[in-house]
Amino acid sequence: MYLTMDFEGKTAVVTGGARGIGRGIALELAALGSNVVIADMAEESAREVVAEIKAGGTRSYYCETDVTQQWSTDDMVEAALEEYGQLDVLVNNAGVGGSSGFTTRKKPLVEDWQATFDVNVYGMVNGTQSVEKYMVDRGYGKIVNISSISGRVGRSGFASYAASKAAAINVSQAWAYKLASHGINVNAVCPGLIWTPLWQDIAKWRKATDEQNAGMTPRQIFQQTVSESVPLGREQTPEDIGKAVAFLASDRARSITGQALNVDGGIRMN
Ligand SMILES: NC(=O)c1ccc[n+]([C@@H]2O[C@H](COP(=O)([O-])OP(=O)(O)OC[C@H]3O[C@@H](n4cnc5c(N)ncnc54)[C@H](O)[C@@H]3O)[C@@H](O)[C@H]2O)c1
Repeated sequence: MYLTMDFEGKTAVVTGGARGIGRGIALELAALGSNVVIADMAEESAREVVAEIKAGGTRSYYCETDVTQQWSTDDMVEAALEEYGQLDVLVNNAGVGGSSGFTTRKKPLVEDWQATFDVNVYGMVNGTQSVEKYMVDRGYGKIVNISSISGRVGRSGFASYAASKAAAINVSQAWAYKLASHGINVNAVCPGLIWTPLWQDIAKWRKATDEQNAGMTPRQIFQQTVSESVPLGREQTPEDIGKAVAFLASDRARSITGQALNVDGGIRMN
């Protein structure tokens, strides 16, 4: 049997698809033929991604979604089914670095723990719970969760974000077990260093809280991190993450479930 990477006629929902990595994932899936629902709260940029996808010749739709609310991810799944008649792929990508103002804090407040766990963990649980019954009844589905290399090992720094990303790997494994007998694959992707608004916030946080970084621009802080830590010597891009997600969401990866794939230029080899 020839297993294809063709997503023609399939439908994917990408949470947090309005910008950054989510946009890269959405564009890659669309380039492979998928209808793509952009599920996000940032309407203006989400609509720009929808227009970009449509200009490339595939169908796309914006669904205003707050992943921290179960009713909202329920609406997201219903809207996708109403619009396209089927749902094949869910990418739980929406994420935050902390609560408002985290870039100026030396250590996380309880609000930062709450915000990261609400979006980065409960957000993917909500999305998965909303799609689960439909995928189980159908006996088919692909779920890809976006974790991070910071979820691989605890380090000093913003522990709330890293802990939420570690939880995202564990949650992916739990759902992979639960859904395996129903023809549903659940995997995680752990991106490395991608210059998105989220990393721009992390660089601002390092500049504000670490004297060694005080004289550097946020972009210089990012570039220094890349040159010090990436064996392949370059930053990763949203497209790099999109290609890994597309593989895991395709039937070519039908025998892969419960895995977390580092896409990080070799930062963490495990
Ligand atoms: N940028 C990196 O280097 C990096 C590295 C590892 C992991 N990640 C992870 O990749 C994912 C995407 O990150 P990014 O860098 O593109 O961030 P980003 O800030 O550029 O984009 C995040 C998107 O999520 C959306 N979002 C936030 N809260 C939401 C909510 N409650 N409901 C719906 N949408 C919501 C935002 O509106 C935004 O469009 C995140 O899970 C992040 O933790 C990023």
